[in-house]
Amino acid sequence: MAPARPGPLLLALIAALLPGPGGAQQSTSVHPEKPVLPRGGSLELNCSAPCAEPSDLGLETPLPKMDLSSGDNWKLYKLSEINESSNPICYATCHGVQVSSEATITVYRFPETVELAPLPPWHPVGQNLTLSCLVAGGEPRAQLSAVLLRGEEELSRQPVLGEPAVVTATVLARRSDHGANFSCATELDLRPHGLGLFQNTSAPRQLRTFVLPMNPPQLSMPPGVLEVPVALEAGTRQRVGCSLDGLFPALEAQIHLELGGERLNSTTAYSKDSVSATATVEVTADQEGPQNLLCAVSLGNQTRQTQRTVTVYSFPSPNLTLSQPEVSEGNLVMVSCEAPAGARVTLSSAPAEPPSSKAQFHMNASAEDHGRRFSCSAELEVSGQVLYKNRTVELRVLYGPRLNERDCLGNWTWEEGSSQTLICQAWGNPAPHLSCNRTNDGAPLPIGDLRPVKQGHAGTYLCRAVSSRGAVTREVVLKVISGMNLVAIILVTIGLTLGAVAIGAYLYNRQRKIRKYKLQKAREAAALKLKAQATPPGAPPTSGDPLTGCTAGELN
Ligand SMILES: *[C@@H]1O[C@H](CO)[C@@H](O)[C@H](O)[C@H]1NC(C)=O
Ligand SMILES: *[C@@H]1O[C@H](CO)[C@@H](O)[C@H](O)[C@H]1NC(C)=O
Ligand SMILES: *[C@@H]1O[C@H](CO)[C@@H](O)[C@H](O)[C@H]1NC(C)=O
Ligand SMILES: *[C@@H]1O[C@H](CO)[C@@H](O)[C@H](O)[C@H]1NC(C)=O
Ligand SMILES: *[C@@H]1O[C@H](CO)[C@@H](O)[C@H](O)[C@H]1NC(C)=O
Ligand SMILES: *[C@@H]1O[C@H](CO)[C@@H](O)[C@H](O)[C@H]1NC(C)=O
Ligand SMILES: *[C@@H]1O[C@H](CO)[C@@H](O)[C@H](O)[C@H]1NC(C)=O
Ligand SMILES: *[C@@H]1O[C@H](CO)[C@@H](O)[C@H](O)[C@H]1NC(C)=O
Ligand SMILES: *[C@@H]1O[C@H](CO)[C@@H](O)[C@H](O)[C@H]1NC(C)=O
Ligand SMILES: *[C@@H]1O[C@H](CO)[C@@H](O)[C@H](O)[C@H]1NC(C)=O
Ligand SMILES: *[C@@H]1O[C@H](CO)[C@@H](O)[C@H](O)[C@H]1NC(C)=O
Ligand SMILES: *[C@@H]1O[C@H](CO)[C@@H](O)[C@H](O)[C@H]1NC(C)=O
Repeated sequence: MAPARPGPLLLALIAALLPGPGGAQQSTSVHPEKPVLPRGGSLELNCSAPCAEPSDLGLETPLPKMDLSSGDNWKLYKLSEINESSNPICYATCHGVQVSSEATITVYRFPETVELAPLPPWHPVGQNLTLSCLVAGGEPRAQLSAVLLRGEEELSRQPVLGEPAVVTATVLARRSDHGANFSCATELDLRPHGLGLFQNTSAPRQLRTFVLPMNPPQLSMPPGVLEVPVALEAGTRQRVGCSLDGLFPALEAQIHLELGGERLNSTTAYSKDSVSATATVEVTADQEGPQNLLCAVSLGNQTRQTQRTVTVYSFPSPNLTLSQPEVSEGNLVMVSCEAPAGARVTLSSAPAEPPSSKAQFHMNASAEDHGRRFSCSAELEVSGQVLYKNRTVELRVLYGPRLNERDCLGNWTWEEGSSQTLICQAWGNPAPHLSCNRTNDGAPLPIGDLRPVKQGHAGTYLCRAVSSRGAVTREVVLKVISGMNLVAIILVTIGLTLGAVAIGAYLYNRQRKIRKYKLQKAREAAALKLKAQATPPGAPPTSGDPLTGCTAGELN
């Protein structure tokens, strides 16, 4: 299809819009055409006509203006107090035709206010934190953006809308945000206008984050003690502890202990993630009854606390008394124990009795009871716990002086020169004084180790034990057998034994010889009878016995 010829109306329109042939300007021109300047500034603007001698030339603007200079077809104006962006129109009338053109003045200004809203003094880790930045002023808004920062890190970048504008961002608070500096910045980007990028930054705000577990702190006792005390005795000191783990930052945590609404003087200790406090509790009798023991740990803007009711009680030791602290043997003494009403006492050695707060018994004091200890145990139940208070007392019995067979043996018989130990001791309370002196010369009894035993020790001694309670005496006989006498006795014994043996042997021998002699005589009588019957001449005597003559002789 061939293009249609353009109509005359369209041609006129094109001629008006397009610059004419030969460079002839058909509209005015302004220089600079698109100035950018800070608010309130001033500007020189050159308005020139497209024809040589325009009949009219001027600048139309609400801004205060001043003619500076002019030429054939131009005028130079000074515009001042340029507070806002505006579009002055440069107009001229050339050959009866009015032509005009517009300058575009862009005014910029930095924000007067860039401020990060205050952060909460403390913010829990794991909870969202809303950052809010107030931006007032700042133009042109199209070129202005707001940035929320954590340190150097950009958290959010947003356009600035509204006057004043509030820009917000939400961040999840972390442990690492503790101590982090948050800030807000605006960026006025005038680079497209041939200027730079201008930043305005708010003052930084430091965040403090924390972790405080939901569980309450633990009340505790020093090691060795069962649990938290349910009862505290008036007038005693008790250490109470309290701790909480899992804290961040533990060092910023506050801990305190209270008893009956009064703060206890405690010492605080920190570890990596825990805090603990120990206090010495000292309650007085006027605090008797239930009291509230409280431990509170606070961190950030939160507090965790534990409470426990403890009973303050008064439980003096039982009064354990003896009717006389010192009694003479054979006398009656009364042992009694008394505890405050409500307690139950158990008195050692006492006959069984129904439980009561008082117990007593009588006893006949003997020497064996000296130094005997009586104990009384009182028990009291306080908030389900049975508490004990014990007392002991020692009985002193006055007895003696005593010096009997067992303490001082009466008769000693020792061999001279041997080593012996002589024991002689007197007993009694008060302790008696013992003196033993030989009756004849007053020499003291050699009590103790005797090595060796000498003849000079022998004698009869009189021992005397004396105390304030009287005196007793005892005789001690010390016999010493001399070593020489002993040898003599042994020799005599041996001699006598030998003599008896010799006599025995002689008598035995004599009997034998008598029997032999009688036999001989009988044989001789028989031989004589035979000789008499038939005596052979020269016959030798029968078996010559050499002993015969001798025996006969000996027998005489
Ligand atoms: C204003 O503009 C005209 C034409 O563009 C020029 O000839 C003249 O020198 C200018 N005046 C000044 C003061 O720059
Ligand atoms: C420009 O701002 C200044 C100061 O804010 C003011 O005194 C002046 O009147 C303003 N000018 C115009 C034209 O609005
Ligand atoms: C603690 O601060 C947070 C904001 O950080 C707030 O939401 C909370 O209500 C505060 N809690 C108390 C007990 O003040
Ligand atoms: C924190 O905010 C984000 C959105 O900004 C949300 O998805 C998240 O559940 C929030 N977390 C908490 C713990 O409130
Ligand atoms: C935050 O700023 C304070 C001073 O304004 C500075 O002492 C601290 O070190 C900064 N914290 C960080 C994490 O940069
Ligand atoms: C904003 O920043 C510019 C330079 O970037 C500075 O000249 C101006 O004083 C700042 N404004 C404020 C309110 O700080
Ligand atoms: C707290 O204890 C410290 C030392 O343990 C002591 O110096 C101080 O006087 C005590 N304060 C009170 C009020 O008891
Ligand atoms: C105590 O006992 C002794 C001997 O057993 C007796 O001689 C004495 O009379 C008793 N005393 C009393 C007060 O019963
Ligand atoms: C124990 O003795 C003291 C003083 O002797 C007295 O004040 C107290 O009341 C007595 N206690 C009892 C339970 O008798
Ligand atoms: C007191 O005596 C009771 C019973 O005799 C005993 O169970 C308790 O351990 C004793 N307490 C002390 C502190 O000696
Ligand atoms: C010592 O022994 C003699 C007799 O051997 C006896 O008569 C005397 O009573 C005894 N003395 C003592 C104190 O036993
Ligand atoms: C009697 O014996 C005591 C020791 O048993 C001794 O101290 C005292 O001197 C003696 N008395 C005389 C008179 O020798």
